[in-house]
Amino acid sequence: MGMLLYYFILASFSGALGLSQPICILDTADRMNLVCKNVANVFPTDMYYGNKNLQCENCDIKVFSLSTFPHENVLLSLNISHTNLQAVDESAFSHLGNLRNIYFEFNKIDRVSSKAFKGLRQVYEINLRNNEIKDLIPGFIEDLEVSYFSLSHNKIEEIPNNVFKGTLVVANLILSHNKIKNIHYDSFTGLEATEYLEIDHNELCYIPIGAFRNLKELKYLNLASNKLSKFSLGTFSGLTALYSLILANNSLETFEGDELLPMHDLNRLDLKGNRLFYLDAHLIYTSAPTLKHVSFEGNVFSCLLLKNVIRYLKAQKVKIETHSGNYDVQNINGIACIEGPVDELTTKEFFFDKAKEEAEMSVRYNSYC
Ligand SMILES: *[C@@H]1O[C@H](CO)[C@@H](O)[C@H](O)[C@H]1NC(C)=O
Ligand SMILES: *[C@@H]1O[C@H](CO)[C@@H](O)[C@H](O)[C@H]1NC(C)=O
Repeated sequence: MGMLLYYFILASFSGALGLSQPICILDTADRMNLVCKNVANVFPTDMYYGNKNLQCENCDIKVFSLSTFPHENVLLSLNISHTNLQAVDESAFSHLGNLRNIYFEFNKIDRVSSKAFKGLRQVYEINLRNNEIKDLIPGFIEDLEVSYFSLSHNKIEEIPNNVFKGTLVVANLILSHNKIKNIHYDSFTGLEATEYLEIDHNELCYIPIGAFRNLKELKYLNLASNKLSKFSLGTFSGLTALYSLILANNSLETFEGDELLPMHDLNRLDLKGNRLFYLDAHLIYTSAPTLKHVSFEGNVFSCLLLKNVIRYLKAQKVKIETHSGNYDVQNINGIACIEGPVDELTTKEFFFDKAKEEAEMSVRYNSYC
């Protein structure tokens, strides 16, 4: 009790002077966890950090650099989240070669220097989500081997040419929820080993021909919730191993099927929530005969077209998946359609108004019985 009171007084006294001493304590409930508090720039140097998971609390580290951990150590994971962290310097992890997880989430990071993660191998996760990164610096993940790297919920506007060059492996790369408008011919150079890429919830309206040509291992590509309206022959060239292509919630008016010709193993295609008024199921299926699952609710289909598309895909044993679905108007398993003709001028508003009108008509018609 006396000790506690003493500690409390000491803590509030030094706190008032802004002199809280950095301290690291082993979590008694889980001896794998080390909690460090009040670290300002440099972690205490007079202690041994075993192969533990370190979590920083009430820390004030602005720049994470080589001198943040001045000595070599064998820490397994490092969590500096919800603090004021603003930048990661070159070779910042040179003394932390055993790290498997780096959580720098919910900070104010706006600069990750070239070669920031240099030398790290077999890292499981590096998570930089919810930061302020606007510009990606070329070489920022050079000489790194990581399974999962997230930059989601930042402010990235562009993927510059060769920005990923020199990367060893980034198996899963998450760029969701940014402001990416521009992708270039050499944006993805360096991601030859990447298998999973998410660029959903960005502002892409155009993808240059050939941009994906080096992604020979890519299995999953998520481009949902962008502003894409059309593709060229060659947009998806190189994606020979692709298994899932997610194009939901864009502004696609046409999808010919030719887009899928480069793929040898495509299993899943998601086209829901676009502005498609025409689909040629035969062209789509013959372009990707490995297809097993498609999703295309939330477009502007005539009922005649929808019935034909579904009949054809069923015959090929392709499963048609619906997620939310419109069941209160004419529909097939939630995929809405209208009797009237549709074309490229049919807006979603017009389509759903018309669908409701037709539904009301049919109610009136049927209530004479
Ligand atoms: C990292 O630390 C924060 C507290 O700052 C905590 O909320 C979060 O759960 C930790 N993350 C992991 C993966 O342990
Ligand atoms: C598309 O948008 C809808 C509504 O905003 C959302 O519920 C859904 O998750 C989105 N789909 C994808 C694949 O992002």
